[in-house]
Amino acid sequence: MITAHLTQSYDEFPYYSRAFPESHPAHLATIGQLFGMSPARVSECRVLELGCASGGNLIPMAVAFPHSQFLGIDISSEQVKQGKAQIQQLQLTNIALVADNLATIDESWGQFDYMIAHGVYSWVPETIREQILRLCRNHLTEQGIAYISYNTYPGWHLREMVRDLLLYATADETAPQQRVDTAKTIARQFASICDSQQIEQHLFQQELNRLQTQPDSHLFHEYLEAVNTPFYFHDFINQAQHYHLQYLADALFSRMFESDLSPQAQQMLQQLAPDLITAEQYKDFFRNQKFRQTLLCHEDVKLERYLKAEVVEPLMVASSAQPTRDRVNVYDGTEVAFQTSKGAVLRSSNPVTKLALSYLGQCYPEMMSFAQLWHQVQQDLGITEGRKQLATDLLRGFSVDLVTLSCEKAGCQKQVSNYPMAWSIARQQAQFQSEVVNPHHQMVSVSPYARQLLPYLDGRRDRANLAQQFQLSATTVEQTLAELAQLGVLVS
Ligand SMILES: C[S@@+](CC[C@H](N)C(=O)[O-])C[C@H]1O[C@@H](n2cnc3c(N)ncnc32)[C@H](O)[C@@H]1O
Repeated sequence: MITAHLTQSYDEFPYYSRAFPESHPAHLATIGQLFGMSPARVSECRVLELGCASGGNLIPMAVAFPHSQFLGIDISSEQVKQGKAQIQQLQLTNIALVADNLATIDESWGQFDYMIAHGVYSWVPETIREQILRLCRNHLTEQGIAYISYNTYPGWHLREMVRDLLLYATADETAPQQRVDTAKTIARQFASICDSQQIEQHLFQQELNRLQTQPDSHLFHEYLEAVNTPFYFHDFINQAQHYHLQYLADALFSRMFESDLSPQAQQMLQQLAPDLITAEQYKDFFRNQKFRQTLLCHEDVKLERYLKAEVVEPLMVASSAQPTRDRVNVYDGTEVAFQTSKGAVLRSSNPVTKLALSYLGQCYPEMMSFAQLWHQVQQDLGITEGRKQLATDLLRGFSVDLVTLSCEKAGCQKQVSNYPMAWSIARQQAQFQSEVVNPHHQMVSVSPYARQLLPYLDGRRDRANLAQQFQLSATTVEQTLAELAQLGVLVS
């Protein structure tokens, strides 16, 4: 009954399907490697996505890795139809989307190196949740990694209050868009009468206000859908262990560290938490965690929990961080803070680290191999020592979300060529949305000019041609191309 209801609901009101960088196989493989696993090479692997909607997450992966196989399943045939049309337009032959219940997956589907279930586990009935874990147990290769995201307590206690309010207020309505509109109106009215001086009402108000900026499809399926079951992290892990799966890591790697917590909280954690799972659960209480992206692997995989700097050496590195002061003297021993636009900070007085982060910031969104970065730093500083320090600091940067480490190179190009080319999927997406995916698997918003040019950046038009076709000045074309290069959408 519920499954039939969900099918109809997602057919009628499709989900806004997008890319989630933390679910990307290259990211899963990198984290697996950091913890001592030997995951399959992403350039030659098999990936299964459960509840893939119209493929907004899976299709860009298939574009980036033509020699890997991507399979998605979703119960909503309407969403799958949309995804298939996109795949056909992109002429991809390494991806298939299936419109069916994931409960029908059997042995004939084979084994997968990476399995992804983003936004599905909390949003399906218990039998399907069990099936998701059973599929991970039966279909993951020996060194395979599964990504499962879900809503969590304690953060969802407050959101449940909002959900209950909205379900109650829209109970007499049936049309999805009408329910969304009513929900937004009610949320606005309630928010306007909350007394923000009172902490409880202030928090409630914040949650209500959040709804106004969410895509309608997200609001509908999150707050007005028949099923939405949050879990405590430790309960989720218990369920996974029942299927002989173990906790590998959080896909949002920085969440596994405590640098965002006060020294008192960190000290208390050490006393309270005898093991990793307990520590993670207590951190959720400190952070009022609302959502988790958990990575699982088979229980018999031996994990190396002590992170070693050497693991960084075979990896690719990128960082968008910039120094917070105009001039960086790498030699003078002063501490410099590097910061990303999202507020991640790493401080260092070490010349090697300062120079390396300056290089990375200059060449972002392009990636460099660790070896290439070290070589450049070493040459410029005329040193032979410091390689290990660099690896340690890059790992530190990764653990605060300031540095990207990856076992695969994202193919962005910073230099705008004479005949600029954007990657195919961004060219396609720009035709119907203002947010496109880049090869880092990030969704980036593009300006109206960029959206206009993007579909035509196929490497066959030069700047003069573009300016003429769109009646734009040479300066506007130049600025727009620079914007797209900075967003990582251009390729060579
Ligand atoms: C909240 S949406 C998430 C979609 C997508 N993974 C994302 O995060 O953008 C949940 C998806 O699960 C699909 N779904 C629900 N029950 C399913 C089932 N039994 N088998 C396959 N897909 C299912 C829905 O159709 C919907 O597309």
